[in-house]
Amino acid sequence: MPSPEPRGPLVHRPRRLRGRPRLRDLVRETTLDVQDLVYPLFVHHGENVRREIGSMPGQYQLSLDQLDRAARETAALGVPAVILFGIPERKDAVGSSAWAADGVVQRAIEILKRAAPDLLVITDLCFCEYTDHGHCGPLLERGGGFEVDNDQALELLARQAVSHAGAGADVIAPSGMMDGMVGAIRHGLDAHGFDQIPILSYAVKFASGYYGPFREAAGSAPGFGDRRGYQMDPANGAEALREAALDIEQGADMLMVKPALAYLDVVRRVKERFEIPLAVYNVSGEYAMVKAAAAQGWIDERTVVLESLLGMRRAGADVILTYHALDVARWLAHPPCP
Ligand code: PBG
Ligand code: ZN
Repeated sequence: MPSPEPRGPLVHRPRRLRGRPRLRDLVRETTLDVQDLVYPLFVHHGENVRREIGSMPGQYQLSLDQLDRAARETAALGVPAVILFGIPERKDAVGSSAWAADGVVQRAIEILKRAAPDLLVITDLCFCEYTDHGHCGPLLERGGGFEVDNDQALELLARQAVSHAGAGADVIAPSGMMDGMVGAIRHGLDAHGFDQIPILSYAVKFASGYYGPFREAAGSAPGFGDRRGYQMDPANGAEALREAALDIEQGADMLMVKPALAYLDVVRRVKERFEIPLAVYNVSGEYAMVKAAAAQGWIDERTVVLESLLGMRRAGADVILTYHALDVARWLAHPPCP
């Protein structure tokens, strides 16, 4: 056996900065703060509805009378914003209850604003929860089949946006992936005196299997076919940059990438290319996987959630929409004893 080469002392010892909690805190690069979280709420028509979503343990469909409590709890934990999804009583071919002045989301906004005036109310703007066919806009017959009519959807999206703003929404978040949606909504809002209402565009939304639990939660599964004719192909990263550029040109104030975990490379690319606030949506399927594994005792929920959200921040997300928001707020307020 040859004897090992004589070695000097190791010069580089990254562990020097890892030995003590104070030192680790001092050099930490990324933080996760409650002020960057948005909590999604599913608002159900009717009364006395507080129905836990089977595939999303700990998340509920809530009727209007239950919102007061939800708003106060969210605000008390320091979570600054909610995003609303409506489950209306009636659906039709064009989703007309989406722009009704007494629609479920419109009424929810007023209740939330009264219960917690400082809580920001973002509204998801789409038609899949309001159409009887479950697609994100009205249908057009073409070539013996149906497709979503992009340009008719634009008109209806603008109408829905004005209705949300009129009810008091703070931010409008279109999620339907229609071409030109941001421009159409911006134009509609401006024409009705809502030029101060920002648009958070779901600019980069992939056709994802991770939305499965959400479709149960919001009752928005497409009745036939899928959404690949309007949502993005999961294989495409450069196209994400084109989508982002188009939405910025049309006046988007903030962009979103969705889902989060399988697309952190896209988050990073968008963040590096465009200097605009960037959100990610930690979607229902991501939540469901963590909850299922944690319930089995296979992973530690708190550790895994905080690590995942920190990863989203490290990738470049300024804002995180997450069903874990209230838990995270509690965990950040009460860190574990060292
Ligand atoms: C509707 C919409 C979806 C989500 C947010 N808005 C689902 C879809 O496109 O089917 C998904 C959110 C989640 O999975 O948590 N356009
Ligand atoms: Zn939709």
